[in-house]
Parts: sequence; structure tokens; C-alpha cells
Amino acid sequence: LDDPTADPFEIAATAAADIVRLTGVERHDIAVTLGSGWGRAAELIGETVASFPATEVTGFSAPALAGHAGTLRSVRTPAGKHVLVIGARTHFYENHGVRRVVHSVRTAAASGASTMILTNGAGGIRETWTPGQPVLISDHINLTAASPLEGATFVDLTDLYSSRLRDLARTIDPSLDEGVYCQFRGPHYETPAEVQMAKTIGGHIVGMSTALEAIAARQAGMEILGFSLITNLAAGIQTTPLSHAEVLEAGRDAEPVISALLARVIEAL
Ligand code: 6GU
Repeated sequence: LDDPTADPFEIAATAAADIVRLTGVERHDIAVTLGSGWGRAAELIGETVASFPATEVTGFSAPALAGHAGTLRSVRTPAGKHVLVIGARTHFYENHGVRRVVHSVRTAAASGASTMILTNGAGGIRETWTPGQPVLISDHINLTAASPLEGATFVDLTDLYSSRLRDLARTIDPSLDEGVYCQFRGPHYETPAEVQMAKTIGGHIVGMSTALEAIAARQAGMEILGFSLITNLAAGIQTTPLSHAEVLEAGRDAEPVISALLARVIEAL
């Protein structure tokens, strides 16, 4: 993936073949990327068919962050759907390039998945939100100045976060709120002024992932559902300093609730 002359889709196809070999599952129907706080959801989705370090699959790099498991899992739901659970996210701020950031999404598509569920832990801009609350992503603003698309690849991003799937999620939990996700590069959190900018341009959630992955998923023709766990309010919205420990703690507390939500949504797909 670091070789600019290599075809990232060919590498994703090789990765998908690795997954078939490691799981014995020919085709995965759904893929889920687990962000901060969502890590234990896999256990509620169904029975684990196979679980292995992501580094056993072509193109996946070693995990950089505590709270990111670095594990890929094949899970079979009670209804018999095969779900590829991606507990290994490469962030843009790791400086491994956008190809690495979206490799898991392209691998999921090459594995047959037609639905991509992207989850993350993020900061909330709406004062009415409370840490531990999951919200649907309705759209995004990509503030990374990067794109997973290479060359003159013009992809439409209308209804990127499927309104059909958001409606379906609200049939599971009618209280789910939604908002526009702003992907910043990170790894620092935003300044209060940057948070005000995000708010002014129409953002409600700030984070460091998901948007680039969603673009790659759309390019691959997948239907996308996005969830943010609000782990804290963004800088200047909350008056106390932000810390990664606080983000992890909110994730741990919310884990049972959001895991159950995700499992029920997947079963309803
Ligand atoms: Cl406030 N900002 C960003 N970029 N990511 C976060 C966050 C804030 N809180 C959790 N993750």
C-alpha cells in the first residue's frame, strides 16, 4: 500500500482472500468498524466464527492506540448473517497515508459486504448531548484536505449516510439523535475556536476518523450507516479539559447500551 504504483483494490482483494482462508467464510454480508467505546459490541452481534490479529491480513498495519483492539473477527448472527467485525482502525493522523486508512473498508467490500457500519467515539458540539450518548451520523464535513479517491474519480456523496439505514436504526431506538460529523486530522483535539468554526459551518460532532472511510465505502458501492458515541463535549463546549482517559471511560460506561443497539440494528438490516 506504500507503493504508489500498486493497485489498492488488488491488495484489498488479496486481503479478502486471506480472510476467506482464516475464517472459512466465503462471503461477509455486513462489515462493522468498531471505534472507541464500541469494542465489545462484537460479542452481542452473534457467535464468533474466527478471531485473529489484523496483521495476519495483507495490508493491515499494527494498532497504534490503546482502546483499539487490532483484531478482525468473523461473527455469525442468530439469523445467519456473516458480519466482518473490524477492530483495527488506521487513523489519518498516523501518517501511513489514506490508502492504509481505507484499506479495511475496501477489504470489506472485496469480502462481499454491501453494508458498511462505521462507528467512532467523538466530541459533541450540541450542548444538549451528554457523554455516553450514541448519535447517528447524518452527513460529514471532511476537514482533512485528503481523499481516498485517486486521480479524476468523481464520486457523488449525496445521502452518503443512508437515510434508509438511519430510519431503520430509529425503529430500534426512536430516541437516537443525529448530526453532521466533522473529521479533523488530529491527533490533538480541536481548539475552542476550531470547534466554533465546525459549528458555524454546520457540524455537530468532531472526530478523527470515519469521513475518509465513508467516501471509500461509497466508491465501493456500499450502503453506509454511521454512529458516533459522544464521549465528551468538544473543547469550549465543555469547560473542563479533554483527555483520552475521559474518552475511554465514557466508552466503557456506554459499552453495554451501544453494543446492544448495534447488535439489534445489525439483526434488523
Ligand atoms: Cl472533542 N475531538 C476529536 N477530534 N475527537 C474526539 C473528541 C474531540 N472527543 C473524542 N474524540
